[in-house]
Amino acid sequence: MTFARIAGTGSYLPDNIVTNLDLEKRVDTSDQWIRERTGIEQRHIAVEGQSTVDLAEQAALRAMEAAGIKANDLDLIVFATTTPDKVFPSSACLLQARLGIENGCPAFDVQAVCSGFVYALTTAEKFIRTGSSKKALVIGAEVFSRLLDWNDRGTCVLFGDGAGAVVLEASEETGILSTHIHADGRYEKLLHVPCGVANEFDAVKAGTAFVEMKGNEVFKMAVNTLGRIVDETLEANQMQKSDVDWLVPHQANLRIIAATAKKLNMPMDQVVVTVNKHGNTSAASIPLALDEAVRDGRIQRDQTVLLEAFGGGFTWGSALLRY
Ligand code: ACO
Repeated sequence: MTFARIAGTGSYLPDNIVTNLDLEKRVDTSDQWIRERTGIEQRHIAVEGQSTVDLAEQAALRAMEAAGIKANDLDLIVFATTTPDKVFPSSACLLQARLGIENGCPAFDVQAVCSGFVYALTTAEKFIRTGSSKKALVIGAEVFSRLLDWNDRGTCVLFGDGAGAVVLEASEETGILSTHIHADGRYEKLLHVPCGVANEFDAVKAGTAFVEMKGNEVFKMAVNTLGRIVDETLEANQMQKSDVDWLVPHQANLRIIAATAKKLNMPMDQVVVTVNKHGNTSAASIPLALDEAVRDGRIQRDQTVLLEAFGGGFTWGSALLRY
Protein backbone atom coordinates (compact mmCIF):
# COMPACT_ATOMS: atom_id res chain seq x y z
CA MET A 1 0.00 0.00 0.00
CA THR A 2 1.21 3.51 -0.82
CA PHE A 3 0.91 6.22 1.82
CA ALA A 4 1.30 10.00 1.49
CA ARG A 5 3.97 10.95 4.02
CA ILE A 6 4.83 14.49 5.11
CA ALA A 7 8.43 14.91 3.94
CA GLY A 8 8.82 18.56 5.00
CA THR A 9 6.92 21.51 6.43
CA GLY A 10 7.33 25.28 6.07
CA SER A 11 5.53 28.46 7.03
CA TYR A 12 5.71 32.22 6.73
CA LEU A 13 4.14 35.16 8.56
CA PRO A 14 4.19 38.82 7.57
CA ASP A 15 6.50 40.89 9.83
CA ASN A 16 3.76 43.40 10.69
CA ILE A 17 2.15 42.56 14.06
CA VAL A 18 -1.15 44.07 15.28
CA THR A 19 -1.77 43.63 19.01
CA ASN A 20 -5.04 43.71 20.91
CA LEU A 21 -3.94 47.08 22.31
CA ASP A 22 -3.62 48.39 18.73
CA LEU A 23 -7.21 47.26 18.10
CA GLU A 24 -8.46 48.96 21.27
CA LYS A 25 -7.57 52.23 19.54
CA ARG A 26 -9.65 51.31 16.52
CA VAL A 27 -12.87 49.71 17.76
CA ASP A 28 -14.82 49.45 21.02
CA THR A 29 -13.02 46.38 22.39
CA SER A 30 -10.46 45.47 25.03
CA ASP A 31 -7.41 43.26 25.32
CA GLN A 32 -9.16 41.48 28.19
CA TRP A 33 -12.32 40.71 26.15
CA ILE A 34 -10.33 39.37 23.19
CA ARG A 35 -8.05 37.19 25.38
CA GLU A 36 -10.89 35.81 27.51
CA ARG A 37 -13.27 35.03 24.62
CA THR A 38 -10.74 33.87 22.01
CA GLY A 39 -7.22 33.42 23.49
CA ILE A 40 -5.84 35.82 20.83
CA GLU A 41 -3.13 38.29 21.89
CA GLN A 42 -1.81 39.45 18.51
CA ARG A 43 -1.98 38.66 14.79
CA HIS A 44 0.31 39.20 11.78
CA ILE A 45 -1.20 41.40 9.07
CA ALA A 46 0.15 41.66 5.51
CA VAL A 47 1.20 45.16 4.46
CA GLU A 48 -0.04 46.81 1.29
CA GLY A 49 1.34 45.05 -1.76
CA GLN A 50 1.97 41.78 0.13
CA SER A 51 -0.23 39.08 -1.36
CA THR A 52 -1.33 35.52 -0.60
CA VAL A 53 1.08 34.13 -3.21
CA ASP A 54 3.94 36.22 -1.74
CA LEU A 55 3.40 34.54 1.64
CA ALA A 56 2.87 31.11 0.06
CA GLU A 57 6.11 31.33 -1.92
CA GLN A 58 8.18 31.72 1.26
CA ALA A 59 6.33 28.89 3.04
CA ALA A 60 6.77 26.63 -0.01
CA LEU A 61 10.51 27.31 -0.25
CA ARG A 62 10.91 26.40 3.42
CA ALA A 63 8.86 23.20 3.06
CA MET A 64 10.85 22.12 0.00
CA GLU A 65 14.13 22.81 1.79
CA ALA A 66 12.97 20.75 4.79
CA ALA A 67 11.96 17.90 2.43
CA GLY A 68 15.27 18.12 0.57
CA ILE A 69 13.66 18.53 -2.85
CA LYS A 70 13.85 21.01 -5.73
CA ALA A 71 10.78 22.76 -7.15
CA ASN A 72 10.93 20.80 -10.41
CA ASP A 73 10.72 17.53 -8.45
CA LEU A 74 7.09 18.40 -7.61
CA ASP A 75 4.40 16.75 -9.71
CA LEU A 76 1.32 18.37 -8.08
CA ILE A 77 0.40 21.65 -6.38
CA VAL A 78 -2.84 21.99 -4.38
CA PHE A 79 -3.36 25.46 -2.92
CA ALA A 80 -6.06 26.20 -0.31
CA THR A 81 -7.10 29.82 -0.11
CA THR A 82 -10.17 32.03 0.19
CA THR A 83 -8.18 35.14 -0.66
CA PRO A 84 -6.54 34.41 -4.04
CA ASP A 85 -4.33 37.04 -5.71
CA LYS A 86 -6.48 36.93 -8.84
CA VAL A 87 -9.85 35.56 -9.96
CA PHE A 88 -7.67 33.59 -12.36
CA PRO A 89 -5.12 32.14 -12.92
CA SER A 90 -5.36 30.17 -9.72
CA SER A 91 -2.95 30.91 -6.90
CA ALA A 92 -1.49 27.44 -7.50
CA CYS A 93 -0.58 28.39 -11.10
CA LEU A 94 0.84 31.75 -9.98
CA LEU A 95 2.94 29.95 -7.36
CA GLN A 96 4.07 27.31 -9.87
CA ALA A 97 5.50 30.09 -12.08
CA ARG A 98 7.12 31.86 -9.09
CA LEU A 99 8.86 28.61 -8.12
CA GLY A 100 10.20 28.24 -11.68
CA ILE A 101 8.43 24.92 -12.27
CA GLU A 102 8.51 24.03 -15.97
CA ASN A 103 7.50 20.36 -15.83
CA GLY A 104 3.79 21.00 -16.52
CA CYS A 105 2.59 19.46 -13.23
CA PRO A 106 -1.11 19.99 -12.38
CA ALA A 107 -1.75 22.98 -10.10
CA PHE A 108 -5.12 24.07 -8.76
CA ASP A 109 -6.84 25.86 -5.88
CA VAL A 110 -9.23 24.45 -3.28
CA GLN A 111 -11.69 26.71 -1.46
CA ALA A 112 -13.10 25.53 1.86
CA VAL A 113 -12.28 28.61 3.99
CA CYS A 114 -10.88 27.49 7.38
CA SER A 115 -11.09 23.80 6.40
CA GLY A 116 -9.18 24.53 3.19
CA PHE A 117 -5.91 22.92 4.22
CA VAL A 118 -7.60 19.68 5.31
CA TYR A 119 -9.49 19.63 1.98
CA ALA A 120 -6.25 20.27 0.03
CA LEU A 121 -4.35 17.61 1.97
CA THR A 122 -7.18 15.13 1.39
CA THR A 123 -7.11 15.86 -2.35
CA ALA A 124 -3.32 15.54 -2.68
CA GLU A 125 -3.30 12.38 -0.57
CA LYS A 126 -5.68 10.71 -3.03
CA PHE A 127 -3.40 11.59 -5.97
CA ILE A 128 -0.50 9.95 -4.13
CA ARG A 129 -2.42 6.87 -2.99
CA THR A 130 -3.59 6.18 -6.54
CA GLY A 131 -0.10 6.61 -7.97
CA SER A 132 -0.92 9.77 -9.97
CA SER A 133 1.56 11.81 -7.95
CA LYS A 134 4.82 11.09 -6.12
CA LYS A 135 5.68 14.51 -4.67
CA ALA A 136 2.97 17.06 -3.94
CA LEU A 137 3.10 20.57 -2.54
CA VAL A 138 0.07 21.37 -0.35
CA ILE A 139 -0.38 24.99 0.69
CA GLY A 140 -2.74 26.94 2.93
CA ALA A 141 -2.26 30.69 2.58
CA GLU A 142 -4.45 33.71 3.23
CA VAL A 143 -4.53 37.47 3.53
CA PHE A 144 -7.84 37.29 5.39
CA SER A 145 -7.29 40.82 6.68
CA ARG A 146 -8.44 42.08 3.24
CA LEU A 147 -11.90 40.58 3.84
CA LEU A 148 -12.40 42.32 7.18
CA ASP A 149 -14.45 45.35 8.09
CA TRP A 150 -11.95 47.00 10.44
CA ASN A 151 -14.84 48.83 12.10
CA ASP A 152 -16.66 45.58 13.02
CA ARG A 153 -15.38 44.49 16.44
CA GLY A 154 -17.21 41.17 16.08
CA THR A 155 -14.87 40.02 13.30
CA CYS A 156 -11.79 42.26 12.94
CA VAL A 157 -10.20 41.07 16.21
CA LEU A 158 -10.33 37.40 15.20
CA PHE A 159 -8.27 36.97 12.04
CA GLY A 160 -4.69 37.22 10.80
CA ASP A 161 -2.60 36.53 7.68
CA GLY A 162 -0.02 33.84 6.96
CA ALA A 163 0.97 30.77 4.98
CA GLY A 164 1.92 27.16 5.68
CA ALA A 165 2.99 24.35 3.39
CA VAL A 166 3.84 20.67 3.40
CA VAL A 167 5.56 18.46 0.86
CA LEU A 168 3.84 15.08 0.63
CA GLU A 169 5.69 12.16 -0.89
CA ALA A 170 4.78 8.59 -1.73
CA SER A 171 5.99 6.14 0.91
CA GLU A 172 5.55 2.37 1.21
CA GLU A 173 5.92 2.57 5.01
CA THR A 174 3.67 5.16 6.63
CA GLY A 175 2.07 8.57 6.35
CA ILE A 176 -1.53 9.84 6.29
CA LEU A 177 -3.73 7.08 7.73
CA SER A 178 -7.13 8.55 6.88
CA THR A 179 -8.83 11.77 5.85
CA HIS A 180 -12.44 12.82 6.42
CA ILE A 181 -14.09 15.84 4.81
CA HIS A 182 -17.68 17.10 4.97
CA ALA A 183 -19.81 20.10 4.03
CA ASP A 184 -23.30 21.42 4.70
CA GLY A 185 -24.21 24.39 2.52
CA ARG A 186 -27.42 25.12 4.39
CA TYR A 187 -25.49 27.22 6.92
CA GLU A 188 -24.21 29.72 4.34
CA LYS A 189 -25.66 32.77 6.07
CA LEU A 190 -24.02 32.13 9.46
CA LEU A 191 -20.54 32.76 8.09
CA HIS A 192 -19.98 34.32 4.69
CA VAL A 193 -18.82 37.18 2.51
CA PRO A 194 -22.19 38.02 0.93
CA CYS A 195 -20.89 39.00 -2.52
CA GLY A 196 -18.52 37.89 -5.26
CA VAL A 197 -17.72 38.10 -8.96
CA ALA A 198 -21.17 36.89 -10.07
CA ASN A 199 -23.22 38.52 -7.32
CA GLU A 200 -23.15 42.09 -5.98
CA PHE A 201 -19.81 42.69 -7.68
CA ASP A 202 -20.17 46.43 -6.97
CA ALA A 203 -19.39 45.70 -3.30
CA VAL A 204 -16.21 43.92 -4.35
CA LYS A 205 -15.21 46.88 -6.54
CA ALA A 206 -16.04 49.30 -3.71
CA GLY A 207 -13.83 47.32 -1.31
CA THR A 208 -16.71 46.43 1.02
CA ALA A 209 -16.78 42.65 0.47
CA PHE A 210 -16.47 41.80 4.16
CA VAL A 211 -16.82 38.72 6.35
CA GLU A 212 -20.14 38.50 8.18
CA MET A 213 -20.45 35.99 11.02
CA LYS A 214 -23.00 35.01 13.64
CA GLY A 215 -20.14 34.12 16.00
CA ASN A 216 -22.11 32.53 18.79
CA GLU A 217 -24.03 30.15 16.51
CA VAL A 218 -20.84 29.26 14.60
CA PHE A 219 -19.13 28.57 17.93
CA LYS A 220 -21.73 26.02 19.03
CA MET A 221 -21.77 24.28 15.64
CA ALA A 222 -17.96 24.14 15.60
CA VAL A 223 -17.70 22.52 19.05
CA ASN A 224 -20.37 19.88 18.30
CA THR A 225 -19.16 19.09 14.80
CA LEU A 226 -15.50 18.79 15.81
CA GLY A 227 -16.49 16.39 18.58
CA ARG A 228 -18.18 14.18 15.98
CA ILE A 229 -15.26 14.27 13.54
CA VAL A 230 -12.90 13.13 16.31
CA ASP A 231 -15.12 10.07 16.90
CA GLU A 232 -15.43 9.37 13.17
CA THR A 233 -11.64 9.53 12.67
CA LEU A 234 -10.76 7.30 15.62
CA GLU A 235 -13.43 4.75 14.67
CA ALA A 236 -12.22 4.60 11.05
CA ASN A 237 -8.73 3.74 12.29
CA GLN A 238 -9.88 1.53 15.20
CA MET A 239 -7.84 3.71 17.53
CA GLN A 240 -8.34 4.84 21.11
CA LYS A 241 -8.16 8.47 22.19
CA SER A 242 -4.91 7.68 24.03
CA ASP A 243 -3.27 6.57 20.74
CA VAL A 244 -3.14 10.19 19.51
CA ASP A 245 0.12 11.95 20.46
CA TRP A 246 -0.67 15.42 19.11
CA LEU A 247 -3.73 17.45 18.20
CA VAL A 248 -3.04 20.16 15.59
CA PRO A 249 -6.40 21.94 15.35
CA HIS A 250 -7.55 24.81 13.18
CA GLN A 251 -6.83 27.90 15.26
CA ALA A 252 -10.07 29.89 15.50
CA ASN A 253 -10.66 30.19 19.22
CA LEU A 254 -8.86 28.74 22.25
CA ARG A 255 -12.19 27.71 23.80
CA ILE A 256 -13.11 25.65 20.72
CA ILE A 257 -9.63 24.05 20.74
CA ALA A 258 -9.91 23.25 24.47
CA ALA A 259 -13.32 21.63 23.93
CA THR A 260 -11.87 19.31 21.26
CA ALA A 261 -8.90 18.44 23.52
CA LYS A 262 -11.36 17.60 26.30
CA LYS A 263 -13.27 15.34 23.93
CA LEU A 264 -9.97 13.49 23.34
CA ASN A 265 -9.15 13.43 27.11
CA MET A 266 -5.98 15.18 26.04
CA PRO A 267 -4.00 17.60 28.25
CA MET A 268 -3.35 20.96 26.58
CA ASP A 269 0.42 20.27 26.43
CA GLN A 270 -0.35 17.72 23.68
CA VAL A 271 -2.23 20.36 21.69
CA VAL A 272 -0.40 22.73 19.36
CA VAL A 273 -1.73 26.24 20.01
CA THR A 274 -0.76 29.24 17.90
CA VAL A 275 -4.04 31.19 17.97
CA ASN A 276 -2.61 33.44 20.70
CA LYS A 277 0.12 34.71 18.33
CA HIS A 278 -1.47 34.25 14.89
CA GLY A 279 -5.23 34.72 15.36
CA ASN A 280 -7.35 32.78 12.89
CA THR A 281 -5.40 32.56 9.62
CA SER A 282 -8.12 30.41 7.96
CA ALA A 283 -6.58 27.81 5.58
CA ALA A 284 -3.07 28.68 6.79
CA SER A 285 -3.62 27.94 10.47
CA ILE A 286 -3.05 24.16 10.55
CA PRO A 287 0.13 24.08 8.43
CA LEU A 288 1.47 27.09 10.39
CA ALA A 289 0.89 25.26 13.69
CA LEU A 290 2.23 21.96 12.32
CA ASP A 291 5.42 23.62 11.08
CA GLU A 292 6.00 25.34 14.41
CA ALA A 293 5.68 22.10 16.38
CA VAL A 294 7.84 20.12 13.93
CA ARG A 295 10.60 22.75 13.93
CA ASP A 296 10.70 23.17 17.72
CA GLY A 297 10.96 19.38 18.10
CA ARG A 298 7.60 18.71 19.77
CA ILE A 299 6.26 16.54 16.94
CA GLN A 300 8.64 13.66 16.25
CA ARG A 301 8.76 11.06 13.48
CA ASP A 302 6.43 8.06 14.03
CA GLN A 303 4.12 9.99 16.35
CA THR A 304 0.38 10.02 15.65
CA VAL A 305 -1.02 13.43 14.81
CA LEU A 306 -4.66 14.47 14.40
CA LEU A 307 -5.47 17.54 12.29
CA GLU A 308 -9.01 18.97 12.38
CA ALA A 309 -10.83 22.03 11.08
CA PHE A 310 -14.21 23.71 10.86
CA GLY A 311 -15.08 26.71 8.73
CA GLY A 312 -17.31 28.60 6.35
CA GLY A 313 -19.61 26.57 4.12
CA PHE A 314 -20.00 25.01 6.60
CA THR A 315 -17.07 22.73 5.87
CA TRP A 316 -15.20 20.51 8.27
CA GLY A 317 -12.68 17.72 8.22
CA SER A 318 -9.80 15.84 9.77
CA ALA A 319 -6.67 13.92 8.88
CA LEU A 320 -4.96 11.33 11.05
CA LEU A 321 -1.33 10.70 10.22
CA ARG A 322 1.81 9.01 11.40
CA TYR A 323 4.35 11.81 11.12
N1 ACO B 1 -14.92 43.33 21.97
C1 ACO B 1 -15.83 43.55 22.93
N2 ACO B 1 -17.07 43.07 22.86
C2 ACO B 1 -17.41 42.35 21.77
C3 ACO B 1 -16.50 42.09 20.74
C4 ACO B 1 -15.22 42.62 20.87
N3 ACO B 1 -14.26 42.42 19.92
N4 ACO B 1 -17.12 41.33 19.81
C5 ACO B 1 -18.36 41.12 20.24
N5 ACO B 1 -18.55 41.74 21.43
C6 ACO B 1 -19.75 41.75 22.26
C7 ACO B 1 -21.00 41.46 21.48
O1 ACO B 1 -21.49 42.63 20.86
C8 ACO B 1 -21.92 40.98 22.59
O2 ACO B 1 -22.42 42.09 23.27
P1 ACO B 1 -23.98 42.11 23.78
O3 ACO B 1 -24.08 40.96 24.73
O4 ACO B 1 -24.11 43.45 24.38
O5 ACO B 1 -24.79 41.89 22.53
C9 ACO B 1 -20.99 40.24 23.55
O6 ACO B 1 -19.65 40.72 23.21
C10 ACO B 1 -21.01 38.75 23.41
O7 ACO B 1 -20.93 38.41 22.04
P2 ACO B 1 -20.93 36.93 21.55
O8 ACO B 1 -20.84 36.89 20.05
O9 ACO B 1 -22.06 36.18 22.19
O10 ACO B 1 -19.55 36.40 22.20
P3 ACO B 1 -18.94 34.97 22.18
O11 ACO B 1 -18.58 34.58 23.54
O12 ACO B 1 -19.72 34.00 21.33
O13 ACO B 1 -17.54 35.20 21.40
C11 ACO B 1 -16.61 34.87 19.20
C12 ACO B 1 -17.55 35.71 20.06
C13 ACO B 1 -15.21 35.03 19.73
C14 ACO B 1 -16.69 35.37 17.77
C15 ACO B 1 -17.02 33.38 19.25
O14 ACO B 1 -18.39 33.28 19.06
C16 ACO B 1 -16.33 32.52 18.22
O15 ACO B 1 -15.13 32.26 18.30
N6 ACO B 1 -17.10 31.98 17.26
C17 ACO B 1 -16.58 30.96 16.31
C18 ACO B 1 -15.68 31.54 15.26
C19 ACO B 1 -15.26 30.42 14.36
O16 ACO B 1 -14.83 29.36 14.79
N7 ACO B 1 -15.41 30.59 13.05
C20 ACO B 1 -15.17 29.44 12.16
C21 ACO B 1 -13.93 29.54 11.46
S1 ACO B 1 -13.78 31.08 10.62
C22 ACO B 1 -13.98 30.81 8.94
O17 ACO B 1 -14.24 29.75 8.43
C23 ACO B 1 -13.84 32.04 8.07
